Amino acid sequence: MSLEQAKQVAAYQAVDQFVTNNCIFGVGSGSTVVYAVQRLAERVESEKLKVTCIPTSFQAKQLIIKHGLNLGELETNPNIDVTIDGADEVDSNMTLIKGGGGCLLQEKIIASCSKKLIVIADYTKDSVKLGDRYKKGVPIEVIPMAYVPIKNKIISLYGGEIKLRSAVAKAGPVVTDNGNFILDWMFANQNLDWEKVNNTIKLIPGVVETGLFVNMCCKAYFGQPEGNVVER
Ligand code: 5RP
Repeated sequence: MSLEQAKQVAAYQAVDQFVTNNCIFGVGSGSTVVYAVQRLAERVESEKLKVTCIPTSFQAKQLIIKHGLNLGELETNPNIDVTIDGADEVDSNMTLIKGGGGCLLQEKIIASCSKKLIVIADYTKDSVKLGDRYKKGVPIEVIPMAYVPIKNKIISLYGGEIKLRSAVAKAGPVVTDNGNFILDWMFANQNLDWEKVNNTIKLIPGVVETGLFVNMCCKAYFGQPEGNVVER
């Protein structure tokens, strides 16, 4: 079974389990979420469900529109029933690294407004310690003018290495949906207290959000190479 099929089985199972009639549904971002929206559209059509979809990114919004789903906004729907989103890594405490696709800020806002955050992923994201499997580090969204001092501050606090994200080598920096830059922090120590790290980094002026999702995710579905899904 391919990785794409592993993503699909996880996404389908989560949507079948958590999407109900009249629910306000947070739509995550990334390649796995594409399958969740596909499944949602099938169910909306066949079961005549009424679901209001709140996007976490430009990509999510486009997916909702493409599938003819009901697009909602946070202003009018600030209480979301369930959000289904991807992740770059999920550790044994259900702490997540997110933001591989650069959408971490809106993803975290939507997750914080959701009664439940459900992760869907293939088996390569299922990890014990952050950094065991995802080697690109923790994404941090920053105000462009502050990226150098923020980078220096994080290195002086925790060590490791930080790269300003660019789409193509030697091209300009990636700009997020919110007009910011992304720093990818390759941490050197896997035994950090991630809650504390998240809170500390967030206090550095110019940091908008981190890709550390601590105590936010209540369930994860991992599609397996054999075609089954492992839940935890
Ligand atoms: C985007 C994200 C994605 O959810 C995460 O990168 C996982 O993506 P994929 O499903 O493509 O592996 O956090 O900011």
